[in-house]
Amino acid sequence: MSVFVLGSINLDAVARVDDLPRPGETVAGLSLELFPGGKGANQAVAAARLGAPTRLMGAVGKEDAGPGLKTKLSEYGVQVGDVLELPSVPTGQAHVWVASSGENMIVVTSGANAAITPQHVAATSLDGQRILLSQLESPAHAIETLFRAGAAKGALRMLNAAPALPQGAALFPLTDILILNQTELATYAKLDQEPVRLEEVSRASRKLMSRPDQVVIVTLGAAGVACIRRDEAFLIEGRKVKALDTTGAGDCFCGALAACLSINMDLREAVEMANAAAALSVQKSGAAPSMPSKREVEAFLEG
Ligand code: RIB
Repeated sequence: MSVFVLGSINLDAVARVDDLPRPGETVAGLSLELFPGGKGANQAVAAARLGAPTRLMGAVGKEDAGPGLKTKLSEYGVQVGDVLELPSVPTGQAHVWVASSGENMIVVTSGANAAITPQHVAATSLDGQRILLSQLESPAHAIETLFRAGAAKGALRMLNAAPALPQGAALFPLTDILILNQTELATYAKLDQEPVRLEEVSRASRKLMSRPDQVVIVTLGAAGVACIRRDEAFLIEGRKVKALDTTGAGDCFCGALAACLSINMDLREAVEMANAAAALSVQKSGAAPSMPSKREVEAFLEG
């Protein structure tokens, strides 16, 4: 069964620094590399690397890095037939700073990603798509069209509501599995502080649910992943690894989870597998290039 991702495709310019700059500060970069990225592309690569047939819908510029990014994504196993190449529009770009601690800061300019419309989505066949996965680097109205069409076809709709945007909340009632990090959860649930303990995460997550069959999954960094559904809340412990670059770790989790659920894996088992995939991804540089294969994840879980 396959995964359909509607999402962003960016060229990531990744500068390594010792420490992230503070406002007004200039710091020396240690290196600068270009990688394929974008939350949609990263999640599609993660799903494809975990073995799910995966289609990506998005848009890139025609005259710059766009066509090359499409080629790279298809080399990772992603089906890119629904990726538009638009003239006179720049491909999305992300300026990523990665500190020696593995922490990062990212600024995204959306470019062609903003050009996807509900009409583009409505013109695409969703036949045979078991899982629909999106994030908020694509226009919310296009995601809404996708999720409404998916509901009619009985697909499972997964939303990674990142980055946290006001328009994202309107999509929650159309979502079956909502995935957030602690910061995003605090923003959407209007909390002054990020929730830490499972009880706090669970209480905040339930504020975002409007249907009893919804699931909220909250990634807690090194602390693991919390899953909240109608009658239970459980925590999957984080895996201790040395992080080289955390860029795209959340995307790895989302794409891997989608791939596991596309083969009807039990939710707890799927979260464990996605958690392991994300732990592997932070040990390599770059977002899309750091997504592990199914074999690597299975070996890590066995080891
Ligand atoms: O989640 C990481 C991604 O966010 C990066 O690849 C960057 O392109 C931004 O979209």
